[in-house]
Amino acid sequence: MDRIRIGGGRRLEGIIPISGAKNAALPLMIASILSRETLTLHNVPRLSDVRLLMRILGNHGVDAAISGKRIGQSEESGETITLSARDIVDTTAPYELVSRMRASFWVVAPLLARMGEARVSLPGGCAIGTRPVDLLLMALEKLGAQIEIDAGYVVAKAPRGLRGGEIDFPKVTVGGTHIALMAASLARGTTVIKNAAREPEVADLADCLIKMGARIEGAGTSEIVIDGVSRLDGAHHHVLPDRIETGTYAMAVAMTGGNVLLEGARRDLLSSAFDVLEKAGVTVLEEKNGVRIIREGTPLLPVDVTTEPFPGFPTDLQAQFMALMTRANGDSMVHETIFENRFMHVQELARLGARISLDGDKAFIKGNSRLTGAPVMATDLRASVSLVIAGLAAEGDTLVNRVYHLDRGFEALEKKLGRCGADIERISGEK
Ligand code: UD1
Repeated sequence: MDRIRIGGGRRLEGIIPISGAKNAALPLMIASILSRETLTLHNVPRLSDVRLLMRILGNHGVDAAISGKRIGQSEESGETITLSARDIVDTTAPYELVSRMRASFWVVAPLLARMGEARVSLPGGCAIGTRPVDLLLMALEKLGAQIEIDAGYVVAKAPRGLRGGEIDFPKVTVGGTHIALMAASLARGTTVIKNAAREPEVADLADCLIKMGARIEGAGTSEIVIDGVSRLDGAHHHVLPDRIETGTYAMAVAMTGGNVLLEGARRDLLSSAFDVLEKAGVTVLEEKNGVRIIREGTPLLPVDVTTEPFPGFPTDLQAQFMALMTRANGDSMVHETIFENRFMHVQELARLGARISLDGDKAFIKGNSRLTGAPVMATDLRASVSLVIAGLAAEGDTLVNRVYHLDRGFEALEKKLGRCGADIERISGEK
């Protein structure tokens, strides 16, 4: 199993290209099931989750291919993937595949909408608290699906097709909004989604569905209206930049000090986190090619944050921010409101010298902590990268184990940081 070694204490300087968003690419790939025609996605990040989803889609009969390099493309240019779901050969998504990536559960919606049935294993994914699918199933039921749970599988049926309806989510759910959008696009009649997730990845999926011929209004707001159509076409779509990768590297630069251009990043996708970084004393500059992050000699100030659905501070940056705050010149608090039990990084950060105490959904972080390198491992994607950020500021070497978590969500992490001056390397194999 690969590990990553980080020697702390180097400042970062240079350019980090931001990849296409994992959390947009996954639902976009899944949307290919809705059409018999080819969906071509550009700027897809090179991530193990993308590869795994290609396999899962292949199992349903989707022909998925990665195009070769084009003239003028650099190593960092995202990949172009073509997905053709001419014939769906299997409407079952088995446990062995779905248990490895929670988002793959979302295939339930396009399979049901197009084929009238789907049998999809209940999901696994990141070990961050109980992550139920009750709201996802509620949404499908509102569109006329009959749902049963059988031996760990969700069996969804709509033999005469889905019909439009009103879906009022009692809680904002990104996955719920994605699957409601996909299902309603091929349902008969009009669907209204209330309390919809406003995440940019939801709007990106809607943009792509519109290119495929769907009739959707209001994506990106909390009320989305969809007029169902009988079929969808192929389309070309460019995946939007990854705001979580953007925020992660912004925090890395804030941590070490330095001056880095996050190439391709967009401030509007991450205003809340950039506002927080500015309050912490970091300079955030919008430039033509991206967002520049600067911290030269100024101290890091403590800031309290509460995670919230978009446009609030994202839960996917909570662990990274907590690592950063261990080095602020005062104490701070992080309130996690989206996921219970999303504090598993705390005990690993403690191994590096962080002093964090927990009280329910709040974490209290002591600033001015002296971090020292140690072997660490993490149980999920965002937690792993928080250990990398802490390692960048720790004295001595930090060894991050279970790097496969990082490979699920961060493309070429060690290369991107290494080129900006970080002392970071991947150590292959069992040692
Ligand atoms: C997506 C993101 C994930 C991010 C999360 C919140 C992808 C691939 N993943 O996950 O990175 O952390 O949004 O921004 O895009 N809930 C229920 N019942 C349900 C569904 C959700 O109670 O049926 C709850 C969840 O437990 C959680 C909250 O709703 O407390 C939000 O979850 P949701 O937005 O659905 O997260 P995901 O779509 O799984």
